[in-house]
Amino acid sequence: MRPFVFINIAMSADGKISTRERRQVRISGTEDFSRVDRIKAESDAIMVGIGTVLADDPSLTVKSPELRAERAAAGKDEHPIRIVVDSRGRTPPDADILHKGAGKRIIAVSRAAPRERVEALAEHADVIVTGDETVDLAVLLEELHQRGVRRLMVEGGGTLIWTLFEQGLVDELQMFIGNMIIGGAAAPTPADGGGFLREEDFARLRIIETGQLDDGLLIRWSVERG
Ligand SMILES: NC(=O)c1ccc[n+]([C@@H]2O[C@H](COP(=O)([O-])OP(=O)(O)OC[C@H]3O[C@@H](n4cnc5c(N)ncnc54)[C@H](OP(=O)(O)O)[C@@H]3O)[C@@H](O)[C@H]2O)c1
Repeated sequence: MRPFVFINIAMSADGKISTRERRQVRISGTEDFSRVDRIKAESDAIMVGIGTVLADDPSLTVKSPELRAERAAAGKDEHPIRIVVDSRGRTPPDADILHKGAGKRIIAVSRAAPRERVEALAEHADVIVTGDETVDLAVLLEELHQRGVRRLMVEGGGTLIWTLFEQGLVDELQMFIGNMIIGGAAAPTPADGGGFLREEDFARLRIIETGQLDDGLLIRWSVERG
């Protein structure tokens, strides 16, 4: 058993999620910011890859005091569990994700992670060890389900999202398309990694919802089960 896994990502009109220097950029506006805060508050946990932590240093906290109060009134922590997929334990011990906002953190590492880094991270987070060289995402999701995570939001980046699609571990994709062109062949996209080679392997999507938000478009897709 695994949680319901949905991805939330903002990309430019030309399909880039940051610049070719992997520098974080503002793609969405205030309406989308509020939407993302709400879907965060509705999730049990939020997961990112180590590439996103190193590039953006996100805290992944719920920003609205009202949404935090709603969670508290429902007997939950103010912020969902924050999770980093980080094979070698490279999360900096002073990363915002480990310090900003109360609540639980999980760092998922592989058996290749150096022991001293794991010990340093264990001072701030629960550490889950799975996979030999990289984190075994299917096993990690099972473990999260056992810990009570039923709704998992994935906030990037392109490498982690690609592997989740490759392994058939995604249920829904929520995508904001912003009104700009970022360009750059090497700029990250919503699904990077190796890419599917055969059409029959492509992940297939079905539209659930579309609409305008700010000066861009929101599309919600469900992932077809093959
Ligand atoms: N626009 C948006 O909404 C948005 C959102 C988030 C991020 N971003 C952008 O995305 C970029 C970062 O993306 P990224 O692709 O470099 O990094 P990422 O997807 O955040 O992290 C990828 C890293 O996760 C680790 N990992 C461990 N096990 C894995 C597994 N089984 N599958 C996949 N990854 C695994 C790998 O590093 P190790 O081998 O070291 O563990 C891998 O390199 C930044 O430019 C950031 O600004 C944009």
